[in-house]
Amino acid sequence: MSINNNEDLVSNFEEKKEINILKNFAKNLMTLKNPDNMIKQANDGGLKKTLGAFDLIILGVGAIIGSGIFTVVGIAAAGSAESAGAGPGLVISMILASLACVFSALCYSEFASMIPVAGSAYLYTYATMGEFMAWLIGWVLMLEYLVGYIAVVSAWSGYFMQFIRGFTFLPEWLTNPPIYLIHDYSTVVRELSSQGIDVNTAVPHFLGIPICINIPGILITLYIIATLIKGMQESTKMAGVMVAIKLGVVGLFILTGIFYIKPENWVPFAPNGLNGIFMGAFIIFFAYIGFDAIATAAEETKNPQRNLPIGIIGSLGVCTIIYVLVALVLTGVVPISQIDTHAPIASAMAMVGQNWVAGLISIGALTGLTSVLLVLMLAGTRILYAMSRDRFLPSILQTLHPKYKTPHILTLIVGAICILGSLLLNISTAAELCNFGTFASFIIVCVAVLILRKTDPERPRPFKVPFSPFLPLMGIICCSGLMIYSMQFLKTSRILFPIWVILGIIYYFTYSYKQQRLAQKDTTNEGDKTNND
Ligand code: ALA
Repeated sequence: MSINNNEDLVSNFEEKKEINILKNFAKNLMTLKNPDNMIKQANDGGLKKTLGAFDLIILGVGAIIGSGIFTVVGIAAAGSAESAGAGPGLVISMILASLACVFSALCYSEFASMIPVAGSAYLYTYATMGEFMAWLIGWVLMLEYLVGYIAVVSAWSGYFMQFIRGFTFLPEWLTNPPIYLIHDYSTVVRELSSQGIDVNTAVPHFLGIPICINIPGILITLYIIATLIKGMQESTKMAGVMVAIKLGVVGLFILTGIFYIKPENWVPFAPNGLNGIFMGAFIIFFAYIGFDAIATAAEETKNPQRNLPIGIIGSLGVCTIIYVLVALVLTGVVPISQIDTHAPIASAMAMVGQNWVAGLISIGALTGLTSVLLVLMLAGTRILYAMSRDRFLPSILQTLHPKYKTPHILTLIVGAICILGSLLLNISTAAELCNFGTFASFIIVCVAVLILRKTDPERPRPFKVPFSPFLPLMGIICCSGLMIYSMQFLKTSRILFPIWVILGIIYYFTYSYKQQRLAQKDTTNEGDKTNND
């Protein structure tokens, strides 16, 4: 009897121990970061505060208008192998995508004005859902910024070759290089297969690995890296010029195209019904990505409480108006079956005989894409900077350049990863993955706003989302609806997305979780030391 009692006691003790371990583990995963500490840490951080509201709108428009409106718009209207086209109903798709963004933009603004630190959605999650979700969202944001970067670099490279080919006096090896020197591997395979050419014979190999190097993509990435290392102020000045050029060419397209609209091209309005409209909205969502990048520059913003909401909502508003006009003109000028999915805007002008406008549009597209590249890499490095500061990533990434005060080591590593990625991923897979990552982060930010309203209602909110919880809930519904709907059709990216998430979870449990515990121990020891002193 007594032996049995002892056994019971031991097993009870073991059970309680296990429960405690599990409880501690769950507590650790949910460790929250105090917003006040974040703000203090950021203020001590040393990034220079140089950006005003106008700079932010420039930064936003610079990040938003890019390959989405210059390239992806054609796929959204005409469709692709994996998704149905919206037709002239693209206008509705654009408004739907914009609505999903507006709801999320309002939530971003509430957070950005309340916690103006680099790190954006990643830190908002840290303040509301804890350590594990924060890591995961930071990881997923890399899809938005760095995989998005790869999609844009691929479009940049295409426009660059088109531009170079315009100079007929240049040598043939420069205007018409082998395909494996200007594209990623999967595009090379697709293009060669469509011509019935065997990729193994047409592409050189090294140690059995086919060598496809997107040289224009690599060159522009080296340029972006150098510009970002030199510093924010220079970067935004340059972005300002680029934004002016791209707004100029988009304006030129609208004002010229308006005279060639044939209303009969708008009929039938939605050739693929609601399916086309929804897939169009998912695809064209890519064109709006970038406004949230503004929040990542929060630490470098003057008077962030006022300037961040103006920057975020202002740039999104400007872009929505422009996009709707572009969609109306494009689908009014060109019959859907004749839309060119590589360079739809420039080709539309060439089709109506406005070749000089088409030429200018190509130059503007190149400039526009460069500014998007700049902001996407900037945002990606700033999130990683914040994650390294929180010991999710090695501390060497926080090293600031002694003269320029920018995280130069981090920028170099991120640049190298982007170059590697641009050799492997094609534009549509990269854009879809980028969309999945962005939708996921928008949903989390909307949820986080609702959580913080409950858990920290007294915190001053210089900007508040109106009609909460209705508008954040609408953000969640729109983003998750489009994401889930499109997963039915997009076969490649719906597999790669979960693989990315699983890799992030593995990294967290093998490296970051331990580092976080060490960080906690350090903080406790420091606290004890201070108390003893
Ligand atoms: N919105 C950005 C673009 O369209 C990502 O290129």
